Amino acid sequence: MIVDGRQAPVVPGVSILDAARGAGVAIPVLCHHPALPPDGSCRMCLVEIDGRPGLHPACVVPAESALGWLVPEATVEVHPRDAARLGVADDARVRLHSRRGTVTARARLTPGISEGTVFMPFHFVEAAANELTHAAVDPVAKIPEYKVCAVALEADDRA
Ligand code: FES
Repeated sequence: MIVDGRQAPVVPGVSILDAARGAGVAIPVLCHHPALPPDGSCRMCLVEIDGRPGLHPACVVPAESALGWLVPEATVEVHPRDAARLGVADDARVRLHSRRGTVTARARLTPGISEGTVFMPFHFVEAAANELTHAAVDPVAKIPEYKVCAVALEADDRA
């Protein structure tokens, strides 16, 4: 496997994440822990895979003879029907607005997300999803609550 231009040895059954680490490529993770079964829920570790549409969680997808890249900039997953309605093309720059802020990112069209919703990872400094959400804490667990908020999405004609 080649990840970010580096050759990564692939052992059958190993994940893209572990293969990349073997090649010295650090992929950020949140929900992944080596002592727990792979979950793939936070999507912090999304990568592109040559020849496969969409983004894939490196911690759960097995490494194969594939080319993989770290996602180079902030992206937001959008259902293709929503994108068509909004006039947004795949890889186009879009703006997301909430009551709390605005960020821009590249649209990734995927039928893997429910129509009427979008998803974006929150670790890109140039498009911090936390700018859109709030700082509420779960009243029982006293940890930040799951980040969900209403947003409006539009094409960013300035790009
Ligand atoms: S680290 Fe959470 S989906 Fe991979």
